[in-house]
Amino acid sequence: MIRYDEVCGTFTLHTRHTTYQMKVSEYGVLLHTYYGPRVRDCDLSCLVQRKERSFSPNPHEAGGDRSFSLDVMPQEYSTCGVGDFRLSSLEFELPCGSRTADLRYAGFRQEAGKYALEGLPAFYGEGAETLVVTLEDAAAGAAVELYYGVFAEYDLITRAVRVVNRGSETLGLCRCASLCLDFTRSDMDLITFDGKHTTERCLSRAPLRPGVQSVGSIRGASSHQHNPFVVLCDRDAGEDRGLCYGAMLLYSGNFEAAAERDQFESCRLVMGIHPYHFRWTLAPGESFTAPEAALICSSDGLGEMSRRFHRAIREHLLRDPGQGRRKPVLINNWEATYFDFTTEKLLAIAGEAAALGVELFVLDDGWFGVRNDDNSGLGDWYVNTSKLPGGLEALVPRLHDLGLSFGIWVEPEMVNEDSDLYRAHPDWALRVPGRAPARGRGQLVLDFSRREVRDHVYARLREVLSSVPVRYVKWDMNRSLSDVWSAALPAGRQGEVYHRFVLGVYEVLERMRRDFPELLIEGCCGGGGRFDGGMLYYAPQIWCSDNTDAIDRLAIQYGTSFCYPACTMGSHVSASPNEQNGRATPLAARAIAAMSGAFGYEMDLSRCTAEEKEEIRSQIRTYRDNWDLFHLGDYYRLTDLSGPFVAWEQVSRDKRRAVVSLVAGGAQAAPPFRTLRLKGLDQALTYRVNGGDAAGGDVLMHAGVPLPPLWGDYQSLQLFLEAVEE
Ligand code: DGJ
Repeated sequence: MIRYDEVCGTFTLHTRHTTYQMKVSEYGVLLHTYYGPRVRDCDLSCLVQRKERSFSPNPHEAGGDRSFSLDVMPQEYSTCGVGDFRLSSLEFELPCGSRTADLRYAGFRQEAGKYALEGLPAFYGEGAETLVVTLEDAAAGAAVELYYGVFAEYDLITRAVRVVNRGSETLGLCRCASLCLDFTRSDMDLITFDGKHTTERCLSRAPLRPGVQSVGSIRGASSHQHNPFVVLCDRDAGEDRGLCYGAMLLYSGNFEAAAERDQFESCRLVMGIHPYHFRWTLAPGESFTAPEAALICSSDGLGEMSRRFHRAIREHLLRDPGQGRRKPVLINNWEATYFDFTTEKLLAIAGEAAALGVELFVLDDGWFGVRNDDNSGLGDWYVNTSKLPGGLEALVPRLHDLGLSFGIWVEPEMVNEDSDLYRAHPDWALRVPGRAPARGRGQLVLDFSRREVRDHVYARLREVLSSVPVRYVKWDMNRSLSDVWSAALPAGRQGEVYHRFVLGVYEVLERMRRDFPELLIEGCCGGGGRFDGGMLYYAPQIWCSDNTDAIDRLAIQYGTSFCYPACTMGSHVSASPNEQNGRATPLAARAIAAMSGAFGYEMDLSRCTAEEKEEIRSQIRTYRDNWDLFHLGDYYRLTDLSGPFVAWEQVSRDKRRAVVSLVAGGAQAAPPFRTLRLKGLDQALTYRVNGGDAAGGDVLMHAGVPLPPLWGDYQSLQLFLEAVEE
C-alpha cells in the first residue's frame, strides 16, 4: 500500500510486515525517514535529528538554518559534491566539466501494477503497486525518477532509477546507483557472499566499522568473488531473531555494494552498477535506466528474510516455462567425458541414465566447430560431424528412443582465435587498439554491445535450436572481461561498453526465450560466476558451482540460500573421488546434497556397480515423489556450517509435509548424543517420520529428533515428514 500525505509531504510504503517512508523536506530535499517493521501511518521525520555540525555544509536555500545538512541527514538518493561527503548515488559530468549532482523534489505519480524496465530484468506480476518520485537537478537540466514497486504480500520493495536529460546540452552520467538506503544507526553487521571459482557465495559477516566497506565486481560478470546480494542486520541477529535487511541487485555485470558507517554512526548502503569505467552519454531527450534493486526487511531473523526472498523470486522473478511443474532429472556428460566423446559413448551414458529414470540428456561443451580442447572452436556454432556423424539430427532421435529429451551447452559471448568466426571478424572481439588482448581459458570475449555481433551469434544458435527438439540450454561464460573497448563506439563513449555488453546478453537471452518459449535455460559462468537476480529473470536455474564435491557444495549452497531459492541452484551428483578436490564421499551424501536443487547426474553411470545403480534409481524416485517440497517448500537452515553436520529442511506451504536433509562431515569416534530441532512445522499436527513412528509438531520443533550415531565419513540422512490424519 502506497500512501502520500500531502500535509506532511511523506510517502509511506506499507507491506504486510514492513513500512518504508521518505519525506520531502522544507527545502525540497527528499529525506529517508524509516524502513523497518510495520508501524502505523504517521510522519516519522522525528527520527531525523537536526543539529549544526562543524564542517557539514548547509544547502544554500537553508539560509541561516545551520541544522540542515545533506552530510548528516538521511537521504533517499544521495547526491555528489554539494555538501554530502558520504557515498554518492549519482554523479553527472556537466557540460562545464563539474562532476556533481544536486536533487530537489519535483513531483510524483502512482501507478497500478508493477513498473517494467525495458531491456532489463525486473520483478513482475499481479498485486503490486508503483510509485515514481521525480527529483530534478536544475543545473544539469535532468530529471531523476525514483521507481518503487511494492509487493505488499511478499514484503518486497523494488527500486529502480531513470535519469532523463531534459536540458539542451549533452550530459555525462558517471554514477547512477540503483539503491541508496540510509539508516540512523550503524550498530549492525554486514553480511556478504564471497569466494572464488569453485567456492562461490561463502558467507562472510562482520560488524560495520567506520568508513566504507564494499564488495563488487569489475570482471564484466557479477562474479565468483562477490555476489550482488548483501545483508545488514542486528549484531545479534540469527536465523530466527533480529532485524535484517537484505538487498539484491538484479544485474549480471560490474556492480558495487558499499556500506558506509559515518562520523555520527549512521550508515548508508549504496548498490548499483560499478562506477569503474562507467560513463554514459545522455544527449538531450535521452534517458538512462539503472538496473533494479530489491529489498526485504525481516524482524524475525535471517531465515525469514531468506524465505521471503525465495517466495518473491520464485513467484515474481523466475519465468520458468515449467513453472509449478517438476524439472526433468538430467544427465550431463561433462565430467564423464570432457571433450572426448563419440556418439556411441554419449549414447552409452544416456542409455544407462535412461534405464535408471533420468529424463533429459545434456550435451555439454565440445559438440561444435573444431573443439577437441578449450583452445579452439568457440564461435563456430555448427555441429562437429566428425565427432557426431549425422549431426544432432542423428543423435537426438536416438536419445528420444531412449525416452530422453535433449539439452545442449553453448557459450555465445566468447570466441577462440582459432575459429572461423574470429578469422572472418577479428574486430568482433573486445580489445584495446594497440594492445594484444589478454586471453582467458584461451579465449577472447565477443563484443556483445554490438548488434551485428549478437545477430550473427544468435542466428547460428537459432538454427541449432531449430534443427532438433531442444528442451534445455546451458548458457555458459568462461572468462572475465578484459580489454574492454568497442570498435563500434567513439572514444568518449567507451565508458558504456561494460553495461551495453550486459544489455546485449539480456537481449539475446530474451530473443531466445521468445523464439523458444518452452526452452529451459540454465545460466552458467564457470559454475556460479554469474549467479544473480538479473540472470535468473532469463535463466530460472543456474549451475551453482563447478565444484561438484558434496561437502564443499554444502557451504556453497548454504550461502546461496540466503537469497536464492533451492530450485534455482543447479546441482548434480558426480563421481567419487570428486574431480575437483579428490574427496571420496558416499553416493547417498552426494544425492542428498544435490537433491534440494535442480537435480541431475554428471558422471559415467556405466561405471557404477549394480548396487549403486539401484541406489540411483531410488534417489530419482525420491526426488520425483517429493520435488514440490524441494522446490516449492519453505526453506529452513537448521544449522550453520560450524558443527559436525549441516542440516536444512523444506516444509510445504500447508505445513503438512516436510523433508529434512542432513550431511555430516568427517567421522568422529565416541560421538555425543545429538538431537536436531526442526522448524516451521505446525505445533498442533502429528507427523509420521519416514513412514514409521509419529511425533507432534511441537515435539519435533522444541524437543527435536534424536539422531542416530553416524559411522564413517560424510554420513547423511533424509527424513520425510507427513501429517497424520487425526
Ligand atoms: C564450465 C561449466 O561450469 C562446466 O559445467 C562445463 O560446462 C564447462 N564450462 C565446459 O567448458
